[in-house]
Amino acid sequence: MEKKKWRTAISWHFDREAYVRGYKLSDLVGNLTFTEAIYLVLKGELPSEKERQMLDAIFVATVEHSIAPPSVIAARAVASGGNSLHVAVGAGILAFGEAHGGALEGAMRFVQENCQENPERIVSEYLKLGKRIPGYGHRYYREYDPRSKKIMDVAKRLGFYGNYCQFSEEVEKAIEKVKGKRLVMNVDGAIAAVVSEMGFDWKLGKGFFIIGRTAGLVAHVYEELTMEKPFSKRLDEEEEVEYLGKMPQELPEKYKKS
Ligand SMILES: CC(C)(COP(=O)(O)OP(=O)(O)OC[C@H]1O[C@@H](n2cnc3c(N)ncnc32)[C@H](O)[C@@H]1OP(=O)(O)O)[C@@H](O)C(=O)NCCC(=O)NCCS
Repeated sequence: MEKKKWRTAISWHFDREAYVRGYKLSDLVGNLTFTEAIYLVLKGELPSEKERQMLDAIFVATVEHSIAPPSVIAARAVASGGNSLHVAVGAGILAFGEAHGGALEGAMRFVQENCQENPERIVSEYLKLGKRIPGYGHRYYREYDPRSKKIMDVAKRLGFYGNYCQFSEEVEKAIEKVKGKRLVMNVDGAIAAVVSEMGFDWKLGKGFFIIGRTAGLVAHVYEELTMEKPFSKRLDEEEEVEYLGKMPQELPEKYKKS
């Protein structure tokens, strides 16, 4: 049969009913939790109870983390410009990048490709090249990231603490030894190790953070739209901005048209 232009294995309609990964959508409603439905749509199969609990813990860890990160600043600034909820939430998602949220993809790839290697050798190689190891370091947490610790604890309890998790913790120790500075395994690093244990492809990495944190962004944008006046995110230049430009000067005569 000729290959069609658009193809999908995710869902289809049969007899005027939607089926997701082969299951009737109306059978899933009221029976699956949100996390089970997300697992189904991403992985193509239903999760076990332990897989559901593990993924649930991961989403809870990502749901919100203060007003400070770039994505929340972007989302609330765009909302304060007079935009609707979906535009502002979209702006927040676009702020996810290698330093915030987006590190999950690189962190998953890092553990999946290097897990068999010697952690100290890999760390030395990265540091020698001046490359950042995705999943390590945090602006706020210097000793440990409490979210990572909890995710690892849950992984141990549910049987998802395997080679990837062990490798990730060894890398944290190796960074401290080789660099002489502690860079904590951050939430992206911990999630990367655990979802790798669960058999997810690193190319899905950013998706886990997008799915979890979108709830927090919606709450922030709603708060901005309902609690603050439009334009409230205008900076106070005197208080918050350092001016680095030229001092006032006359426009040269030859440019003056009036
Ligand atoms: C999160 C991050 C942006 C914080 O950066 P930061 O506050 O500037 O980092 P710190 O002040 O703690 O550390 C700065 C030093 O550590 C190094 N460093 C920080 N994170 C590093 C990493 N992941 N790998 C290697 N070196 C790193 C810097 O190069 C710098 O080195 P120097 O002092 O020799 O110049 C940074 O750690 C990072 O880019 N991590 C990787 C991406 C990531 O996992 N992001 C998800 C965050 S939840």
